[in-house]
Amino acid sequence: MRIHILSIFPEMFSPLNESIIKKAREKGLIEIDLVNFRDYTASKHKNVDDYPYGGGAGMVLKPEPIFAAVRNLSLKAQPKIVLMSPQGAVFSQETAQELAREEELVFICGHYEGFDERIRTLADMEISIGDYVLTGGELAAMVVIDSTVRLLPGVLGEAESSEDDSFAAGFLEYPQYTRPPEFEGMEVPAVLLSGDHARVAAWSRQAALRRTLLKRPEIFRPERLAAADFPLLRELMAEDERIRQLSVRWLSFEPLPRSKRSRRLELE
Ligand SMILES: C[S@@+](CC[C@H](N)C(=O)[O-])C[C@H]1O[C@@H](n2cnc3c(N)ncnc32)[C@H](O)[C@@H]1O
Repeated sequence: MRIHILSIFPEMFSPLNESIIKKAREKGLIEIDLVNFRDYTASKHKNVDDYPYGGGAGMVLKPEPIFAAVRNLSLKAQPKIVLMSPQGAVFSQETAQELAREEELVFICGHYEGFDERIRTLADMEISIGDYVLTGGELAAMVVIDSTVRLLPGVLGEAESSEDDSFAAGFLEYPQYTRPPEFEGMEVPAVLLSGDHARVAAWSRQAALRRTLLKRPEIFRPERLAAADFPLLRELMAEDERIRQLSVRWLSFEPLPRSKRSRRLELE
């Protein structure tokens, strides 16, 4: 994947030279091209911003340098151009998965009071990292780049697979433990030490469902439940009244057992 970043503070991107993203660059899985759009201003003083028409506080980024910087990118594919903006769609794991399918991405980072409105016409999408306002788009672009790049094949080692991550399948990740088996009176659940893979898988799945329902019920995706999840869900409903109240309507998502399914087809 080739990633072009347009910013007037390219030094802010040094975190992309660390850890997993650094390794991805070294392995040639991603290329990062930092472009300072101040280099594309025709003005003598290298101004990239100006006062807003109609008055108002702060300075606005001018269109010419950003348009020129985008037009001068050396592109290999048709890029997806992303404008970092608090007014954009709020970033999610699903958007990271969508971006990870692209070959070439361009991120435009604003600063000061924001952009001249015409700059928006360059973008295929506008992304916000949350309902708050940052001083510039640099940190936001790094958040988006980091979570997108770790989904690219080969970036994470097998041991760090992203498949079970929170949000990857619509649920939070199950709780994790490592050695020692007992720490200050807190014990690792016995099932995890049992070596019984089927029981561990069922425990982990149930723990992920419990966690999602209790911590983030709004992200719970009942349509993503597998048939084997329903017995686990029923146990959780018996265990916790809050889960029972949340889940009772989702039981209608349970697929019919095979025998009843074929019977229904015959009737139809
Ligand atoms: C101070 S903000 C401008 C905010 C603008 N006045 C508004 O109210 O929409 C400067 C720049 O930071 C970036 N930015 C700020 N908050 C952001 C967020 N939550 N997500 C993505 N980018 C953000 C954008 O690139 C924005 O143009």
